[in-house]
Amino acid sequence: MSSLVLAHSKRLFATGSNRLIALQGINQSARSRLYHATAAAAMASPKAIENTEKFMLNTYTRPALVLSHGKGSYVYDTTGREYLDFTAGIAVTALGHSHPEVAAVVADQATKLVHCSNLYHNEWAPTLAQRIVTATTDAYPQGTQGIYAKDDGGARVFFSNSGTEANEGALKFARKYGKHAVATGKLGKAVSEAVHGDPNLKSGLVSFTGGFHGRSMGALSLTANPKYQKPFTPLIPGVVTARYNSIPEMSTFVDERTCGVIVEPIQGEGGIHAAHVDFMRALRRRCDQVGALLIYDEIQCGLGRSGHLWAHHMLPADCSPDIVTMAKPLANGIPIGAILVSPKVSEIIHTGDHGTTFGGNPLACRVGCTVLDHINTPEFLAHVNEAGEVLERELSGLLAPFIGGVVVEQRGTGLLRGVQLSSDPSRLIELARDRGLLLVSAANNTIRLVPPLNTSFADIKKGAAIIGDCVKQLASEQTAA
Ligand SMILES: Cc1ncc(COP(=O)(O)O)c(C=O)c1O
Repeated sequence: MSSLVLAHSKRLFATGSNRLIALQGINQSARSRLYHATAAAAMASPKAIENTEKFMLNTYTRPALVLSHGKGSYVYDTTGREYLDFTAGIAVTALGHSHPEVAAVVADQATKLVHCSNLYHNEWAPTLAQRIVTATTDAYPQGTQGIYAKDDGGARVFFSNSGTEANEGALKFARKYGKHAVATGKLGKAVSEAVHGDPNLKSGLVSFTGGFHGRSMGALSLTANPKYQKPFTPLIPGVVTARYNSIPEMSTFVDERTCGVIVEPIQGEGGIHAAHVDFMRALRRRCDQVGALLIYDEIQCGLGRSGHLWAHHMLPADCSPDIVTMAKPLANGIPIGAILVSPKVSEIIHTGDHGTTFGGNPLACRVGCTVLDHINTPEFLAHVNEAGEVLERELSGLLAPFIGGVVVEQRGTGLLRGVQLSSDPSRLIELARDRGLLLVSAANNTIRLVPPLNTSFADIKKGAAIIGDCVKQLASEQTAA
């Protein structure tokens, strides 16, 4: 080992306070195994890690390994070590890594047209928009309201580059909708009187506890987490946060001044919590009552992850949204986001109201078509459901002895699953990584299980077995401590 590498690996451990804390309180052999596995990875690419520390903003804590490639549900680091990837780039690579069809489409489109701006038509943005609209309505024939309304040719799409941007656009559309509703007196007598004809008075936005919508100023203002919000106040005005799944609180917070309400049908970052049907139904009714747009953030739970094309397809038709935002898996890792809006929204959005340089580029949109075509088949969605059931079943057996101890519960739908621990999950995530399984945390001491949607049952079982093994070790460490 060269002295540079040795000095570097020492520094990694010396500066990684989380790592040092995690290393405390575990037995010597586990500690040295962990140290060697992670340090060995660091050896292979000291330059990448050194340059990260030296030249990149310090906004993430990363383990000392450098990923170089992936195949299917596996990724590999620069030492050649293999990891079963139950993170999928945080619910992004739905078709797995290096998917041959995605790779071929990227390569082909790269030789044709990557970008041309929105000053001109391209072949793929309208194709993807049409497929999103058709797939959504076809998969939910019972829908007649919101994005399912048939007026004016039906729903329409705006393309962005990320989930945050999609939400940001949705919030802008809600603001404009509020102004328009006041200006045209379309709100009904009670609401019009309540807002006194002042267009700015109907600009309120409502979000829910545990929700995550992004970190730009608008999206951050609706992401009610003091850790994310506090350093960046003041936030945008007119935002209130009600308790998720509380009908009384929602009914009070959503009022005549509200122009938009954003909610995740299943919260991902918030710890894998699903909205209750009664809550969503009451929310839809309340939005109609006060003339507010109902926005479903399906950036994490949408596009097949729940075992349905959209998570809200598990809800009754009288819960249909006015806007759906999507991103993560839409182009399997090529950045893209989209806002799907109902006719009543599209009729008030005009030229110049919103824009983007990169959004709707032919590369991302063509890949989006490929991904959607794969996800939106009964066989693919059936696999997600079955894989989710296999994961749940395997974990049930393995975790049963630890429920009430280190494990609180497991929950989830399809391949959006979580195991809630009774304490910080970072130690378990390290143990899993050491055994070749990548996991990501979520709120409430939860480890999030979001593998590629086409992960084989054998790999689902393998991942579950590793988690079971890690939970066992965690429990014995906690008993010994
Ligand atoms: C539900 C939800 N909304 C919005 C976002 C933000 O998306 P992005 O990171 O693509 O900007 C995320 C990201 O985790 C998310 O899970």
